[in-house]
Amino acid sequence: MTVDDGAPVMILNGPNLGRLGVREPEIYGHASMADLEREAARWGSDLGLRAQVRQTDDESTLVGWLHEAVDSRSHVVLNPAAFTHYSYALRDAAAQVTTSDLLLVEVHLSNPASRESFRHLSVVAGIASGTVAGFGFDSYRLALEAIANKLAG
Ligand code: DQA
Repeated sequence: MTVDDGAPVMILNGPNLGRLGVREPEIYGHASMADLEREAARWGSDLGLRAQVRQTDDESTLVGWLHEAVDSRSHVVLNPAAFTHYSYALRDAAAQVTTSDLLLVEVHLSNPASRESFRHLSVVAGIASGTVAGFGFDSYRLALEAIANKLAG
């Protein structure tokens, strides 16, 4: 199988993640969203996946991208950022992905469970295929590996 006909994976990122590199680097690191785009393209092609990174600060755009993932039969790696903790609209959109027999891996750069208490609840986790948190950019690489392994059976 060539990368061109590999399974599509949307890597969707929520609010403030466009500020990676300048936003609280002691928590989120010094690399930028552009760096993640480059890395994800390389990981995807190594794993035979067509990975595409997107970021928005807007909840309705993120919901729309999840609908698009369902309609185009794309798997999803989702860092919902702060929406993780309270957006039932995002949770309901993400549920449409996993109930359509597509994989959705929730990722976080930091480990929300070891941070402030408001970050301990994820309203997305219960409908996700799985969660990877706490490993910086490696959280995304591990999520892509999990998807590739699952698809390989
Ligand atoms: C985050 C964790 C969230 O609690 C936070 O609101 C973010 C980033 C992470 O990747 O560690 O914006 O999702």
